[in-house]
Amino acid sequence: MAGEYGLEDVEGVGPATAKKLREAGFATVEALAVATAFELSEATGIGYDVALKISQRARELVKINLVTADEVYRRRQLAQKITTGSKALDSLLGGGVETQAITELVGEFGTGKTQLCHTLSVTVQLPGDKGGLEADALFIDTEGTFRPERIVQIARRHGLEAEKALKNIVYARVYNSDHQVLLVDKAWEVCGDRNIRLIVVDSLTSLFRGEYLGREALALRQQRLNSHVHKLLKLAEALNLAVVVTNQVVANPGQFFGDPNKPAGGNVVAHACTYRVYLRRGKEKTRVAYMMDAPHLPYGEASFLIGEGGVYDAPGAG
Ligand code: GTP
Ligand code: MG
Repeated sequence: MAGEYGLEDVEGVGPATAKKLREAGFATVEALAVATAFELSEATGIGYDVALKISQRARELVKINLVTADEVYRRRQLAQKITTGSKALDSLLGGGVETQAITELVGEFGTGKTQLCHTLSVTVQLPGDKGGLEADALFIDTEGTFRPERIVQIARRHGLEAEKALKNIVYARVYNSDHQVLLVDKAWEVCGDRNIRLIVVDSLTSLFRGEYLGREALALRQQRLNSHVHKLLKLAEALNLAVVVTNQVVANPGQFFGDPNKPAGGNVVAHACTYRVYLRRGKEKTRVAYMMDAPHLPYGEASFLIGEGGVYDAPGAG
């Protein structure tokens, strides 16, 4: 999905500025258009006033500006869905995992978050009539739990050639939150080079939680996490791709009745993610997904199973 304009087409951006911008991860006009002047100026050392002009002109060039509701409607019509491999889960999600949105998978360890991410990295590659977008995935792994062997198995189940399925997933293992943030900045470039329609961040919060310890660090952590998820949302909206992030639960000491856990990341993550799906263990080996937060979907539950070929319907579910 490479844009029709290059950085140097933006008025006021010469080769030297273009170089600075590229080095800071702003590789395309689209990336400039959705960046704030503050971000541009911070990342490149360009003065704020100049950064403001650059981002405004980039916006004019790619026509990200005030629009009427019919234009919003037209864009929303372009949103597409990626199948999970389970009809019940797809239906809970309103047809599958949606583009132009962030879907957050929350749950305790072993509830299937990572398995679902593996599955979607394969199903996004399927042709439209099989529930995919015939596109590639970018998998950002913060926990070292990505397993190519699983991709091979899931690809086989869906009738895809294993070797091709592996080649269509761009993988990045990240070790600290700075690197995670940088990779998302870089994602504009990667998405410009390849037809990427799914970005997985597994997990969104773990590195941030591990690095910013204690009360003093909390505000800074939330601020950085906020900027990170909003960058992901901009990517999703501007490039019409799906972002799927995972999140752990933490103990909620204020809760006396019901579930004693709540998603990590606080309001920042809750507000930025479009869909919040809570996963838990069900009867036998099933998993239950519960739609906690969705702008226009009914709340509800769906049972599914994790098997060798990824995500399946639970027997009797529908
Ligand atoms: P954390 O990252 O620890 O928070 O957990 P998670 O929610 O990411 O869990 P994950 O997706 O890794 O789920 C692990 C579970 O998936 C295992 O306990 C197994 O039940 C199931 N699973 C993983 N691989 C396979 C497989 O090849 N076959 C089958 N049948 N189940 C599998
Ligand atoms: Mg996991």
